[in-house]
Parts: sequence; C-alpha cells; structure tokens
Amino acid sequence: MDSRKSIEESREDFPSLKRQRKGKPPIYLDNACTTLVPRQVFESIQEYYTEYPSCSGTRSRHWFAQEVSDHIEGNPGKGIKGSRQIIAEFINAGSKKEIIFTLNTTHALNMVALGFPFQPGDVVLLTDTEHNSNLLPWLKLQKAGRIKVDFTVTNDRFDLDAFEWKLKTGRVRLVSMAYTSNVTGYTIPAREITKIAHQYGALVLLDGAQAVPHQTIDVQNLDADFLAFSLHKMCGPRGVGVLYGKKELLGQMPHEEGEAEHVIVPVIQGGGTVADSTYYSYTLMLPPDRFEAGIQNYPAQIASGAAVQYIQQIGMDRIRDHEASLNHFLSEELMNRYGDTGWFSIVGPQDAAQRGGILTFEVKRPNAMGIAADLSEKNNVMIRDGVFCVHAYFNEKFGPEWTRPISHSEHRMVYRVSSYFYNTMEECRVFLEALDEIFKERGYI
Ligand code: ALA
Repeated sequence: MDSRKSIEESREDFPSLKRQRKGKPPIYLDNACTTLVPRQVFESIQEYYTEYPSCSGTRSRHWFAQEVSDHIEGNPGKGIKGSRQIIAEFINAGSKKEIIFTLNTTHALNMVALGFPFQPGDVVLLTDTEHNSNLLPWLKLQKAGRIKVDFTVTNDRFDLDAFEWKLKTGRVRLVSMAYTSNVTGYTIPAREITKIAHQYGALVLLDGAQAVPHQTIDVQNLDADFLAFSLHKMCGPRGVGVLYGKKELLGQMPHEEGEAEHVIVPVIQGGGTVADSTYYSYTLMLPPDRFEAGIQNYPAQIASGAAVQYIQQIGMDRIRDHEASLNHFLSEELMNRYGDTGWFSIVGPQDAAQRGGILTFEVKRPNAMGIAADLSEKNNVMIRDGVFCVHAYFNEKFGPEWTRPISHSEHRMVYRVSSYFYNTMEECRVFLEALDEIFKERGYI
C-alpha cells in the first residue's frame, strides 16, 4: 500500500489554501510563476531565525555558526544531511561540491554567461522560446562583441536534425536552452541534445526552472554540463536558486588565468570566495565556495533542503502524472467548449501530454484583456496573463506591436494556467465554469 500523503492530505500543509475571500477558498493555478509554501519549509526558516541566526562555520567558529553549517553542509555525527547534499542527490549530481547556491535561476544563468571563457566568434545556440533570463545575458554578450547568438526553432517539436545542422555548420560553443518552456510547457529532448552537442564539442546549459520541480532529474544521465533552477518554483523559499555544474567545469586552480579553457570563473568576488589575499592578488577557494560571495541567504539555503524533501515524499513521478491528468482534463474541456470558435486556441503542442502542468491559451476577441483579474476578483482563481517574460517569442509570433500593453489589450490576450501537485480536479472545474461565465458576460459565447 502507498504510504505517501494523498493530495488532500498534502493540502493540509499549505496554510495559504485555508484562506477564504468572499466565502470562497483560493484556487491557485499560477505555479509556473511561483508555488505555494508548505509549513515544513517555513518552519525550517523559523528554526534558523529562532535557534541559530548567525553566519556559517566557514567564517565563525562558534556554536551557532556550526549549526548553520550543519544544516547546509551536513553533519553525519549528528545525523544531519545538509541541504547541499539533499539537492545533489535530488538531481543525482556526482558530488555536493557541484551544487552552487545562487539567488535564482536568472542569477545562475548569468553566472555561466559572464563566467564562461568565450572566444571571439563563439556561438551560443538557444531555442526561439527562451525566457528573458536565458536570452538577455547572451544578447548583452553579443552586443559587447564577445559571442554570436543563434536560434533553433522548436515549432512545438524540437527538430534534432535542424539542431545538429546548426552545430555542424556554426561555431557553437555553448547550447543554452529552457528544458521546459514556461509558455508552451514543452520539454525538449535534453538527453539527445547533450549527446549531439558533445559530439560537436559544445557544452550544454539547461534552464531547468520549469522542469526540475515537475519531474525526476538525473544530471549524470542527461550528461548536462550546467543546470540552473529556482527553489521558489518547488515549494521552497524565495531568493534562492541553484547552479549545478560538472566538477571539471567549475575550476580547481587558485587563479582564474590558470584554468582550462572550458571552466567558468566566478564573476562576483568577496568574502568567502578566497583563501587568501594581499594588496595585489588573491587565491580562490575551491568550488562551490568561490562562487558564493558574501553573507548568504542561510535560512533559504537550509529550507531548500526541507522543500526538496517535501516534494520527494510526494514523489516526482506522482507529481508529473497528477499534473498531466489535470492538464489533459482542462485541455480537452476547453477545446470541446471553444476549439471551434476561431478565437480560442492553445499555445504550443496541442497534445496535453507534451505540456506538463502548463496550459497557455489565446483569446482573440475585442476586449480580451482582464480575464485573469476577473477570475481572481470574482472566483478567487489565480492564473497569469501577458507575455511571461518571453517577449521575443510573442513579438515574432504576433508582431512587435502586440507586446505593448496598449495594443495587446485590445484584441488578443494570452493566459496561462499552471498546476502543481496540490491542485485538484474540483479546482479545475471551478476554473472552467468561472471562465465560461466571463466569456458569456463579455458576449463571446
Ligand atoms: N518565469 C516565471 C513565469 O513564467 C516568472 O511566470
């Protein structure tokens, strides 16, 4: 018998789900933006502030500092597995030293962009559906003349032959791609991508923000060189993310200049990153310390372990299957109701099985704006609208005028429903009925 918590039991851990407004509970379907937080996670944060609110043992030698380090780096003698090790095991990294704490995914991606030893003429290859966080750092480098940016078009299905052609014909040094798109929910064939990229001598950075929270990840099996993700999208605290990097890509020399040509170097330097300094020079600590400059967000780093353990006990396969069944139901219902209208369409693959927990739809009608606000105001249903920080994709798809608020408000709007394991079929039914009501009020049906 399955001894794990049921969905209903897990909902008890989320105080925010107990709130009421106008006599109704919240229906939170904006999980691709950020997830709700279970009490186990904020109890962990509270424990830090209550029990040992100090810096860590890498700086100070006292009792509190030691306890901070115990919870981040682990202390087998006390039976404590640190959060760095918990995260390493969660993604099957070879060593906890490959886990660098960052502020978020954006920070992690920028660390690679700014720290990678590019040569003039190097190409960084992206997909056409990248979030600004995995586009702007590269455009900035291109503007500075350090790289060239190129794109492979996904068209709702990753074309491995077109991808390989880019590698064969261009000087691609790094492939940097969203593992799962935050707009379409499509998950790229990452294992095949790393295999092909490596054949042509390119490294692969995966933006795992929308993938890591929703499926089992095995970085060794994927053979990914770097993986970036955020804890706040997986029941964790805000303001903490992870950059995973293969050990041999994170450096081992005391000075940046001495590193091999594929190693990333730290771009932010300060306390905690150096073993020694003089008025003229410094020697770096080994990874991960050299990448974690200054006093860290210790409570969030510690609570990251609690968040990972929380979703592990729900079960990553169960999370993936649950989201898939909700998405299948929602997609089928929406297409049955509005698929023939000509003004309603699902963005991305039409098959819900290829969109994880993400369902993005377009409403192409006058006065298409404001449906998310209406759903929230009238029914406590929370979804997201807009361009989801993927302006470039929408500019290409709908034309550059569209992303300007004044224009895109008038005649077409895109909405995203994104679920997590605590969402229920009943919540989906409420959303569907509420949406139907709004469409009627607006005279669409
Ligand atoms: N990238 C997050 C989203 O898609 C914020 O909503």
